[in-house]
Amino acid sequence: MELYRIKGGKPLCGTVNISGAKNAALPILAATILTDETITLENVPKVNDTNIMVETLLNLGASVEYIDDNTLKINTSTVKKYSVDNPSIKKIRASYYFAGALLGRYKQARVPLPGGCNIGGRGLDMHEKGFEALGATVDITESEIVVDATKTGLYGTKMYMDKVSVGATINIMLAAVLTPGKTVIEGAAKEPHVVDVANFINGIGGHITGAGTDKIRINGVPALHGGTYAVIPDQIEAGTFMMAAAITHGDIVVDNVIPTHLDSISSKLKEIGCKIIESDENVRVIGPEGRLKRTQVKTLPYPGFPTDMQPQISVALGLADGCSTVVESIFDNRFMYVNELKKMGCNIVVDECTTAYIEGVEYYQGANITSPDLRAGAALVLAALSANGQSEIDGIEYIERGYENFDKKLRLLGADIEKISRE
Ligand code: EPZ
Repeated sequence: MELYRIKGGKPLCGTVNISGAKNAALPILAATILTDETITLENVPKVNDTNIMVETLLNLGASVEYIDDNTLKINTSTVKKYSVDNPSIKKIRASYYFAGALLGRYKQARVPLPGGCNIGGRGLDMHEKGFEALGATVDITESEIVVDATKTGLYGTKMYMDKVSVGATINIMLAAVLTPGKTVIEGAAKEPHVVDVANFINGIGGHITGAGTDKIRINGVPALHGGTYAVIPDQIEAGTFMMAAAITHGDIVVDNVIPTHLDSISSKLKEIGCKIIESDENVRVIGPEGRLKRTQVKTLPYPGFPTDMQPQISVALGLADGCSTVVESIFDNRFMYVNELKKMGCNIVVDECTTAYIEGVEYYQGANITSPDLRAGAALVLAALSANGQSEIDGIEYIERGYENFDKKLRLLGADIEKISRE
């Protein structure tokens, strides 16, 4: 068991280099199944979730070679089975992308039910609706998703999504790329990682238009070729370091980012008193000398304020002058960190699992706390970095699912954080 030991109170200053986006890399890794030719993927973050996707590709029979920590050469022409049985895959949500990719390529897949962070009900009905609309039968049992179109084949169609779902939008794209005819997804998710998956697929011969709007059109092509692709920078990792500047009253240049992906975060940071300086590939965040200001936040699908930044901004507002509210509108259980934050002196109450009322305090106090999930864990680290005294945070395996070298990057900004092993 490893944990972070953090001595808080230091402003974080300097430049941090942002890694590739986990939530783009995961479906792109699965999408390599769609071609027999070799794919070189650059800027893949080396985190536990991407490691599990790679393990699963190997388990299916693909060859994967690490050129360096973040560059992989993948060839899936040797995939011989359509059933995912790597036990680790159950730990992650993105396992469902193997259903879309294997269905698209081989017209069949059997994948364990997705795991991932416990942040509320995470239905699969939109995935099911999409696969069925394309002509597959879908059987979701207590333990697995079984999709099959071996007898009928798949065909292009038009479908309307009842809920905006990142995962379902991407999964339907994966299944439809090689499907004859035109598939139209109305009510598609617009997140940067949806666009990145479409760009990757188009770069190897696919024909997807409209990604980044709520109407995506996929013209099926007979085959895809190989190529080289670099994953976009991670919007949420960038946002987390931007929030670190605010919370610790620091001055951080968040480098290697696409600033427009960060607009909703930059805008909230300005509202709470930070100075933001944007250039082509970086955003500098200067925290205020005095206290942060109160505000209201509601999480929304892109381009709204991301649910994956909700715990981090709640931690910031816990230090703001006055009363703030944070409404979580995407997931129904994303305030699991609140009891831990209260141990640090945060004055926060959650109503009906959807709205947090936060009366800001001047300082957090160091405490021994547990990370309940990935983003909440990162947010608790930020709280500890600003706190008086020492904190120990366990459950850091959640954080390491999605943040590459988190403690190392924080140390480079001047944080007093060490990873220690507990007997
Ligand atoms: C993706 O999850 C991300 N995960 C999440 O990031 C992120 O929080 C989420 O999108 C929203 O941006 C990955 O990309 C691996 P959704 P996903 O389908 O695809 C409901 C992180 O911290 N819904 O957009 O699972 C669902 O219950 C993680 O990196 C259905 O009801 O999210 C939720 O309330 C956590 N039926 C909402 O829609 C469905 O079939 C949005 O879910 C699908 C979704």
